[in-house]
Amino acid sequence: MKTVLINCSPKKRFCASAYFLFLQRLFVCEEKVNEKLRTPADCARILEQLRDAQAVVFGLPLYVDGVPSHVLRFLEEMEVFCRENGLKFRVYCVANNGFIEGKQNEPLMQVFENFCVRAGLAWGGGVGIGGGVMLNVTRILFFVEIALLALNTVLSAVSTGNFFPKEAWLSFAESTALLLYFNLGVLFYLFGMGRAIGKGTAFGKKYTRILIPSFVFILFADIFFTIISLLQGGIFRGWLAKKE
Ligand SMILES: Cc1cc2nc3c(=O)[nH]c(=O)nc-3n(C[C@H](O)[C@H](O)[C@H](O)COP(=O)(O)O)c2cc1C
Repeated sequence: MKTVLINCSPKKRFCASAYFLFLQRLFVCEEKVNEKLRTPADCARILEQLRDAQAVVFGLPLYVDGVPSHVLRFLEEMEVFCRENGLKFRVYCVANNGFIEGKQNEPLMQVFENFCVRAGLAWGGGVGIGGGVMLNVTRILFFVEIALLALNTVLSAVSTGNFFPKEAWLSFAESTALLLYFNLGVLFYLFGMGRAIGKGTAFGKKYTRILIPSFVFILFADIFFTIISLLQGGIFRGWLAKKE
């Protein structure tokens, strides 16, 4: 059984869709193929991968309450391709959005549902994830925690000869448990959808979000966007821009 996972974020690096598709992959057994849809040049290659696929998972961001335009163009091509070649796989979707409620992905899910009808494919359902940007940041925080633990271990070993600083490990376990908790809703539904993909059955539409209270989310989002606008948006553009 072959599952094609298509990352449809137009970002080159560090996109939330890549993170959620990485998690989805963990729960899908058998053959998995990763694809990236950014430009029209990617379309032909991806369509060829679909010929012998049993399941296709789209990972994409919500743009203006809908499907990003480059994905719509791809779906138009895919509809014709699937009809002409009599393809009959199941389509799933992992959508994420910046605002906190995952339910905002409902119109996007409907587009995919209608697309499946038009293309003669089976709609498998999807997971709509709110707070996608913030959840994506949790994976960086996890690596920061690992780096801090390594640093503390080295410092402790050098200064006291103790290779197992209990405090540092406890703090690492605490923060990892917290980051895991933020992601629990996502993990729960992606696990369920992974099982449905394996069985070739429909999963339905499920919505979740980062597991923090909305007022905390708004506070952090306000601070984040205030800093970004003070820096005229340049901080991340600088990091992510392709270096000459
Ligand atoms: C052009 C544009 C439109 C967006 N529209 C919405 C929106 O309508 N609702 C929302 O919650 N987030 C919106 N977002 C935020 C993205 O959905 C969010 O940043 C997402 O995590 C990006 O996923 P990615 O990193 O996989 O590309 C928009 C972002 C962009 C760039």
